[in-house]
Amino acid sequence: METLSEYTRDLYGAPDELLQGLPLDAQREGLPAIHIPDEVGRLLQVLIVSGGVRRVLELGTLFGYSALWMARVLPAGGRVISLEASPHHAAVARRNLERAGVSDRVEIREGAAIDSLRSLDGPAFDLVFIDADKINYVPYLDWALRLTRPGSLIVADNTWRHGEVIKNDGDENARAMAGFNRRIASEGRLISTMVPNRDGEDAVTVAVVR
Ligand code: SAH
Ligand code: DHB
Ligand code: MG
Repeated sequence: METLSEYTRDLYGAPDELLQGLPLDAQREGLPAIHIPDEVGRLLQVLIVSGGVRRVLELGTLFGYSALWMARVLPAGGRVISLEASPHHAAVARRNLERAGVSDRVEIREGAAIDSLRSLDGPAFDLVFIDADKINYVPYLDWALRLTRPGSLIVADNTWRHGEVIKNDGDENARAMAGFNRRIASEGRLISTMVPNRDGEDAVTVAVVR
């Protein structure tokens, strides 16, 4: 054992077989293995339970891995609405969530997130998890602020990306993420912090609406 990630994996154990199997199945079906690490799954669960979260909005479903972590700790009547642009990803996720027994708690909406966001209404969300295309994180944050209320949580994945956000030769995703980080850090309506994961290779930004 060498690193904190290895230590915590040993300490907490691997997730159950269903969760563990999803990335392997997905890879066989040609989906990328860019789901959250388990330490972020546990962080989302801590936030949901500690914050009494009932309504979750997720941007970027992939094969339903993060949605399943979250759905498992929702109280009765809790819901995840997850937005996904790829019909193939959405289909794989629906099957996985059905198999996991949480399809009554997770609704996947197909289409570009920005279009689905425009058609969302109803009560505010208690947690918004931003994990779709990195280039649109700033508009997604604006939408998250509109769709939440004081006390709600806004969480954004992949905000360090191996330090790409501070490299001058970064690609457009890295530049967009650097812009997102500056924006959220200076956003007066939020208290936020970057939580490292994958042994500091990446970070997830956690914010609460004041
Ligand atoms: N939250 C997932 C990982 C999401 S990966 C997990 O941790 O398990 C990012 C996902 O965002 C991919 O499935 C990709 O198809 C989707 N995506 C990319 N651009 C998008 C867009 N404009 N609108 C909605 N989803 C998008
Ligand atoms: C990528 C996207 C993710 O959401 C992630 O967790 C890791 C990588 C990507 O697009 O490269
Ligand atoms: Mg991610």
